Amino acid sequence: MAKIAPYRRPNPDTQPPYLLPAYASSIKRAPAKSLIYLPHTLSEVTGPSFTEAAIDVKACDLTRQHSDNPLGERIIVSGRVTDEEGRPLRHSLIEVWQANAAGRYLHKRDQHNAPLDPNFTGCGHTLTDAEGRYRFVTIRPGAYPWGNHHNAWRPAHIHLSVFGAAFASRLVTQMYFPGDPLLPFDPIFNCTADENARNRLISQFDWDTTIPSQALGFKFDIVLSGREATPMET
Ligand SMILES: [Fe+2]
Repeated sequence: MAKIAPYRRPNPDTQPPYLLPAYASSIKRAPAKSLIYLPHTLSEVTGPSFTEAAIDVKACDLTRQHSDNPLGERIIVSGRVTDEEGRPLRHSLIEVWQANAAGRYLHKRDQHNAPLDPNFTGCGHTLTDAEGRYRFVTIRPGAYPWGNHHNAWRPAHIHLSVFGAAFASRLVTQMYFPGDPLLPFDPIFNCTADENARNRLISQFDWDTTIPSQALGFKFDIVLSGREATPMET
């Protein structure tokens, strides 16, 4: 049987810790005992693959899922998904979920006193192309209050899940918007200690993908863990 090449473990401080007291929910979620190192085996270095047949082609446009347009500022979120060697993650499932323009999720546990939008569900998915590119049309989400501490507000953000090539490289993260005044006060954004790594969570305004009279473009590139194996020269 061929030797299994494991995936690279994250660099210290470039990922949020399990326990960060400023982020109150992490106190209950964090492991109470030190972790046991498990080598990557076949179940970690493999994962489900997705074909076009499993994809709803309309799911990449969150503004076209109902009979009318959702309220809010239409935006385009796009970028590339690569591994740490810059190799594209091809045909990889990428999913998004977000609050509406008023800062409210379509979820029974979200009881924020802001209106729901009958024309906005807030969920989408797509596959990356052969170069690892993806693109969503959506509306800019609103900031919303949360119960973490007194007067706590989440900066506007979009949740993303990228399946990648294997379970060991699957990434669940949040994308933020440049210039958001709430970012310095957000415990979740500030969970990531390394400033450069943290700033990679902020999308960039992008003229190239902005469509005149239609939508502003925001670029958000994503890097997944690479394998420990030496990259092959191509
Ligand atoms: Fe959220």
